[in-house]
Amino acid sequence: MSLATVLSRAQNGLAADLVTVEVHLAPGLPGLSIVGLPEAAVRESRDRVKAAIGTCGYKFPNRKITVNLAPADLPKEGGRFDLPIALGVLAASGQIPVEQLTALEVLGELSLSGEVRPIKGALTAALKASLAGRALLLPQENVAEAALASGALLHAATHLAALAAALHAGPLELAVPTPVTALSLTGISDLADVRGQFQAKRALEIAAAGGHSLLMIGPPGSGKSMLAQRLQGLLPPLTDEESLEVAAVASISHAGFDPARWGIAPYRAPHHTASGVALVGGGSSPKPGEVTLAHNGVLFLDELPEFDRAVLEVLREPLESGQITVSRAARQADFPARFQLVAAMNPCPCGYLGDASGKCSCTPDQVLRYRAKISGPLLDRIDLQLTVPRVDRAALTAAQAPPTETSAQVRGRVIACRAVQLARQGKPNARLTTTEIDQHCTPDSIARSLLEQAMGRLSLSARGYHRVLKVARTLADLVGAATIGVPQVAEAVRYRELDRS
Ligand SMILES: Nc1ncnc2c1ncn2[C@@H]1O[C@H](COP(=O)(O)OP(=O)(O)OP(=O)(O)O)[C@@H](O)[C@H]1O
Ligand SMILES: [Mg+2]
Repeated sequence: MSLATVLSRAQNGLAADLVTVEVHLAPGLPGLSIVGLPEAAVRESRDRVKAAIGTCGYKFPNRKITVNLAPADLPKEGGRFDLPIALGVLAASGQIPVEQLTALEVLGELSLSGEVRPIKGALTAALKASLAGRALLLPQENVAEAALASGALLHAATHLAALAAALHAGPLELAVPTPVTALSLTGISDLADVRGQFQAKRALEIAAAGGHSLLMIGPPGSGKSMLAQRLQGLLPPLTDEESLEVAAVASISHAGFDPARWGIAPYRAPHHTASGVALVGGGSSPKPGEVTLAHNGVLFLDELPEFDRAVLEVLREPLESGQITVSRAARQADFPARFQLVAAMNPCPCGYLGDASGKCSCTPDQVLRYRAKISGPLLDRIDLQLTVPRVDRAALTAAQAPPTETSAQVRGRVIACRAVQLARQGKPNARLTTTEIDQHCTPDSIARSLLEQAMGRLSLSARGYHRVLKVARTLADLVGAATIGVPQVAEAVRYRELDRS
């Protein structure tokens, strides 16, 4: 045998395409050459494979070895192909049996001593391998994550020497993953910590119930950041399908996926100094950005006007379509980016416009310039806009806070309300299309005339009009009403704060 073939998978964005690793031994000048990987990756992989085989007590063939990775267009990170290449070399030189290898897909990076090191994107590879009906041999550290792909057959590898011995001994054992621990919301702050602010809490509940985007405007220290951080604890648990999407994205990200987060909507709060690439994703081999890491969860942009305007403009595309395309010279990747936007800002540069203290000294021109940092089209895409005034001193300093609702209580209502929406239209109200709005969000006749008046007064755009209807739909769902009435329209219109001023 002088030719061996091992299957593996590449990673490009969320895609995990099949890669065939062919290893050929021929007489000639001894050496190992890899084709199908960029130069630097080849050099590194070759050195690791050679050292690992040697330290594991096997013989590195004294032949001309050619490794072909097909298709040739592969990502730069070649580490994941170390293990399939090493197994291919051992199989082609007759040092391990080949029968089992042909039915497997293999992934793993090698250390110089032959230890198998974890890779990124194990979950997406496991999903594809399972679809293809093949078992996946992968690093032990990746098993818990890969096991989230239901039906995946997994074998764990810890060390090249142990793996080679196991292949000699007979059929490989299936890895038994530790079961995913139940949903735990510990570590997420509770709404009961926030004193007063009943309007803002109400808006937070509406946002959670219908998946609406939210902008809070208020003076420093009014608790905007505090409120936003508590949204995550109000959201309904993710479905298995949504959780899998979240896990797949995290799996290819820098930080990786923690199986304990299964079922919990992600919460991302990038700092306003974040670059465009950090926010939307990019890099020579495209990595997901914050908008993708917030997929099926919350993206919180604190101090909204401080963000680079060009960076904010990029958000318009995913806010509408729920996905983002990252194009680079060499390759292009589509990432999901269906997030709930929550933002906070001060009303003016000094922050105190409209505050009871009367401290504000900004000129109208300064205020306009400050607000203009956020473009109209972006504001237009925010369903709920509201002012968060400072809570009065008495409420804050009262020795005993009056009993208020906890996150768990509000979450109970949110879950019930979301279930109504899913039963009716299969998605949260915030994601209704224009046709679906016509179908599901019809106000009664008095509410309709109220809405018409309000539209004239606020000069609402068409998009703003549809947003009011969607929010009104959520308000009706919260009280279990079939049609939208006057109270719902009246309240929904109140959340168009910036259209008014
Ligand atoms: N309603 C409240 N209940 C309890 N504590 C509050 C409340 N409002 C403000 N605080 C206190 O004030 C601190 C500052 O609040 P927070 O950071 O949320 O303000 P902010 O509105 O985001 O201000 P800035 O505009 O400066 O970012 C909180 O950490 C908390 O200690
Ligand atoms: Mg803040």
